[in-house]
Amino acid sequence: MGPLVTLLIGLVSLTVALDNGLLKTPPMGWMAWERFRCDIDCKDDPENCIREELFRDMANRLVEDGWKELGYEYVIIDDCWMSMQRDNQGRLQPDASRFPGGIAKLAEYVHDRGLKLGIYADMGTQTCMGFPGTTLDKIEIDAQTFASWGVDYLKFDGCNSNPVEQMLGYPLMSKALNATGRPIAYSCSWPAYVGGLPPNVNYSLLADICHLWRNYNDIQDSWDSVQNIIEWFSQNQDELQPTAGPGRWNDPDMLIIGNFGLSLEQARSQMALWAIMAAPLIMSNNLRNLDNSARAILQNKAAIGINQDPMGIQGRRLLQETSHIEVYWRPLSYSASALVFLSRRTDMPFLYHTSLAKLHYDAGNYEVFFTGKTVAGLNASTEFTVSINPSGVVMWYIYPEPSKQTDTLDHQHYKASRFSFHKAKPGRHAVL
Ligand SMILES: *[C@@H]1O[C@H](CO)[C@@H](O)[C@H](O)[C@H]1NC(C)=O
Ligand SMILES: *[C@@H]1O[C@H](CO)[C@@H](O)[C@H](O)[C@H]1NC(C)=O
Ligand SMILES: *[C@@H]1O[C@H](CO)[C@@H](O)[C@H](O)[C@H]1NC(C)=O
Repeated sequence: MGPLVTLLIGLVSLTVALDNGLLKTPPMGWMAWERFRCDIDCKDDPENCIREELFRDMANRLVEDGWKELGYEYVIIDDCWMSMQRDNQGRLQPDASRFPGGIAKLAEYVHDRGLKLGIYADMGTQTCMGFPGTTLDKIEIDAQTFASWGVDYLKFDGCNSNPVEQMLGYPLMSKALNATGRPIAYSCSWPAYVGGLPPNVNYSLLADICHLWRNYNDIQDSWDSVQNIIEWFSQNQDELQPTAGPGRWNDPDMLIIGNFGLSLEQARSQMALWAIMAAPLIMSNNLRNLDNSARAILQNKAAIGINQDPMGIQGRRLLQETSHIEVYWRPLSYSASALVFLSRRTDMPFLYHTSLAKLHYDAGNYEVFFTGKTVAGLNASTEFTVSINPSGVVMWYIYPEPSKQTDTLDHQHYKASRFSFHKAKPGRHAVL
């Protein structure tokens, strides 16, 4: 290794946590990539090309269509926003014909609506789509540029770099973002480029320097892709699940609900599983013409409440039955929890018989909230049956039934949990 690399390793070892209080719960918002990719053909496809109008439109939709009040706040630019050349001071600049107002103006537009702006860069010689990359010597200037524009979130991709450059570059960018003095959420694609698992990935280091990280393959617009991601995260949950927590999230990639590849059942399944996995709820869809069923799923307050639980404990797959029913579980604040029953079957709705005891719940009495109904008087050994549609889910929110013996403190916790669950309109929303 040359002296430069040795010096850089020295700097990296001084890196402190990017612990700036951001993303105590998983980020929520909208990102361009899965739905709009690298469409830069504004002549023939003006509605869908990557340009400032697209992001302004999405910001307007987030505000006017009820997303923002539910927590969807980030508008995130992905690849293909840049000019092919840096400016004469070596700074990245947006493509002049597609972003004539510049990024600072766009950030202002987004901020004026109470939202936050995210941007994309790539640790390497070029972005994945061939635009200017951020090599090690450009990290500081790029961090400064983004901060000067008022950017609130950086997705730092990893195409066209090697593992040594990544090992240096991701911590350096963390330090450089911190040094700007502007709180910027930092999403690292690093693990996805080195297999996503230890020993290639050091998750405690990642959690020190990034707020979230992409562990695995890009999502595509299909149920196969969603299932493949769920499977990979579940098979590796012993490594991945403990690394998540407030300010540090695994990212199984964007929500594709409202696009072309998922049935209604499958869309519900993605939402439910992303809630269980404490995953970022970052949609990539066309908010201008989303149909009502997709909107209802993405705006489901119970699923959002479960996803945003303040304890921030990622859930796990509990069971895989030979019937191809799987059960997922996530512990929530105030002794509540969420259960998701997922059917991998392809025939017809399946009647699944179980009890909370079989799902490792302690003895006691519980209440369950699902699809608008509350079921009280369930104890751990009560046998029950859920009917799960093919490639669909049933999602439950469960809490201990308040008993006469419940002491005051527990009772307060219980009421607080009901309150946070029923944040907006108490008692009026249904779990998926
Ligand atoms: C920079 O890092 C320090 C130490 O973790 C933290 O207290 C501070 O809030 C960070 N500042 C920004 C702008 O990220
Ligand atoms: C992982 O990174 C942490 C710093 O966050 C360090 O203390 C630890 O030794 C690293 N583990 C390995 C196996 O390199
Ligand atoms: C649990 O509830 C069932 C009815 O659902 C009842 O038969 C059983 O006695 C109850 N068990 C306990 C320990 O309360």
